[in-house]
Amino acid sequence: MSADGFRARGHAMIEWIARYMEEVYQFPVKSQSEPGAVLAQLPDVPPEHGAAGAGGPRGSDEDAPTSTDAGEEIVWDAIMRDMDQIIVPGLTHWQSPGFLAYFPCQASGPAILGEIAAAGLNVNGMSWETSPAATELEMRVMDWMAHALDLPDAFTFGMRGFASAGGGCIQGTASEATLVALLAGKSRVLDRIGTDAATRLTAYASTQAHSSVLKAAMVAGFAHSAADHSRVRFIETDAACAMDAALLRDAMQADMQAGFTPCCVFATVGTTSSGAIDPLGPIAQVIEDTGAKATGTWLHVDAAHLGAVAVCKEHRAALADIDRADSLVFNAHKSLLTNFNCSLMWTRDRASLNAALSVNPEYLRNPSGTASPLDYRDWQIPLGRRFGALKLWFVLRHYGLDGIRAFVRIKVAMNDAFKAKIDADERFECCGGNALLGCFRLSPQPGESPHQTDERTRSLLKRINGDGRVYLTHTVLPPFGTVPARFVIRVSFGATMSEPRHVDLAWEIVDRAASA
Ligand SMILES: Cc1ncc(COP(=O)(O)O)c(C=O)c1O
Repeated sequence: MSADGFRARGHAMIEWIARYMEEVYQFPVKSQSEPGAVLAQLPDVPPEHGAAGAGGPRGSDEDAPTSTDAGEEIVWDAIMRDMDQIIVPGLTHWQSPGFLAYFPCQASGPAILGEIAAAGLNVNGMSWETSPAATELEMRVMDWMAHALDLPDAFTFGMRGFASAGGGCIQGTASEATLVALLAGKSRVLDRIGTDAATRLTAYASTQAHSSVLKAAMVAGFAHSAADHSRVRFIETDAACAMDAALLRDAMQADMQAGFTPCCVFATVGTTSSGAIDPLGPIAQVIEDTGAKATGTWLHVDAAHLGAVAVCKEHRAALADIDRADSLVFNAHKSLLTNFNCSLMWTRDRASLNAALSVNPEYLRNPSGTASPLDYRDWQIPLGRRFGALKLWFVLRHYGLDGIRAFVRIKVAMNDAFKAKIDADERFECCGGNALLGCFRLSPQPGESPHQTDERTRSLLKRINGDGRVYLTHTVLPPFGTVPARFVIRVSFGATMSEPRHVDLAWEIVDRAASA
């Protein structure tokens, strides 16, 4: 592709994306595609001829065709037609203002432009040497974000820079951060008590923790399969679906008495299912009181979705006691205007994290023989890494912290407004949530069994989603005391382009579906 061809297609692509963002609200939020429908429209084999063979004059050498303006235009017209006719209809529109399902996957103009810049530069920032700006910009924006969330200095590079004990890095996903935390904890504990204990290490999370904890345990050799909980313990939760710290204490003490060593505790700030917030202070206290802290037990905090609210002073309580944790992750791609993927992870103990992940073959060492100031490949599972800091830098500079705070406050207000409507209507029952998530179900009718309430709520969700303008998902809350398990509808107003009027739209659809 010539530079001029790239320019022309690039301008057209930006126009296509801008139009998609303007028109996305018109599509049914959830894809209506049947299994195989997209596959059936795609040829079995790749095109033999590209732009040079697409109708324009062929290059002089058949073996090395060069593209031509005419050929390029034909091919790119066809590509964009397929985008409109095959790809877009096969999408669930995560950018639609009516996307209220799961957790949002935010984007913004500045972040998209940052992605483009990163793709254009296409550096591999695996080590400082391979692109100093990629490493140093990431260090700086991670410190900026730590400042924005009011994290303790121990999580920053700060004045000590390359020589700091803590700091942050961008992971691909929160799941990777969970695995990295487990490996860091394992490294620290084994360093203190000896590697013989490797098969007697245990990990802990609440029953409501994200499935990435179990997956990390499987990858790290703590569990043979998803059914194997012999070294990864899931602690029961309280009435608010938050981890019961007293039960954590019992489990850790029982394990220690049986000769196991606690390696890692995962606390969640904003569970995926219902938005519950595990009590960080009491959990950290259990780790201290049981003596586990002395043997190096790692406390990782997963604030994948809710962490963003801590940019606002009034929501800082969500991360109260974070100074007692060893690491924290939150996804800027869920709730901070930054395109997927951008998981921000901080630790106070770089040394243990790096010890778990650093491999330094000759071919990756500095040719000069000098030590590298900081290699982000030692903070993650893969070797190569994208220039992910660029888009976050663009976002922070474009919006500024006051713009970001205003954005978060609007999303919180929208979630509050919807919950207030649910709360005020006796047909519905609020069933938890947090600043960025609400859960509700139909109120039980006199004489109705729990199963019947669940089934009525399930069919309400089907009618709501049948409208096409919004998309909500569900969860099942765990039983507690005499309260049985409950099927509930989750709703999270977080799509970048959703506005307060979309709360009214969602309410109108829910209201009508409940009256049907
Ligand atoms: C609390 C929590 N942790 C972890 C994850 C996993 O996130 P990722 O897709 O970044 O791995 C999610 C995803 O929704 C989540 O809600």
